[in-house]
Amino acid sequence: MSRLLASSVLAVLVLSGCNQPVEDTGPGQPVKHRQEAFKAVLRTFEPMGTMLRDQRYDASKFAALATELHTLRDGPWPYFTADTHYPPTKAKAAVWARPEAFEQARQVFFEATDALVLAAQSRELAQVQPAYEKVYDSCKACHNDFKDK
Ligand code: HEC
Repeated sequence: MSRLLASSVLAVLVLSGCNQPVEDTGPGQPVKHRQEAFKAVLRTFEPMGTMLRDQRYDASKFAALATELHTLRDGPWPYFTADTHYPPTKAKAAVWARPEAFEQARQVFFEATDALVLAAQSRELAQVQPAYEKVYDSCKACHNDFKDK
């Protein structure tokens, strides 16, 4: 009995710790694809932040990550098609209600990631740090308006 209890507690923890207990059952799974594309973006963006926070700036590694981010930044957007605001999405309805504002936020992000690549090519931490922060701010600004917490 106690073993049974323990394993069901574990199951609850695992399930509640899981981001997406709900499957995307829509045709072509656009929600799943855009979420995966954002996770890929995060996987290149996060190590850059860690490097800067830990004061271990490595110009070559950073430049490679910035270039990869620049490539991956195109991933999510084609999957924000009409009628794709359904579970398990974390997107707000505003994505579809205010498409111009969403596009504007995307452009700010694109400009910031262009600038990050240039800053990284300079190999100067003094340029890289503020450029990284601008990209961070552009992610955050869009999430504030268009993504649920
Ligand atoms: C123009 C708007 C916009 C920009 C810019 C943006 N995001 Fe997002 N992001 C979203 C939206 C909307 C979602 C929710 C997608 C969904 O669930 O359908 C999201 C989801 C995510 C997710 C969650 C994926 C998941 O399901 O677990 C991560 C991680 C993420 N974004 C990281 C980033 C990072 C890092 C940046 C910047 C480098 C960034 N995003 C820039 C709009 C944006």
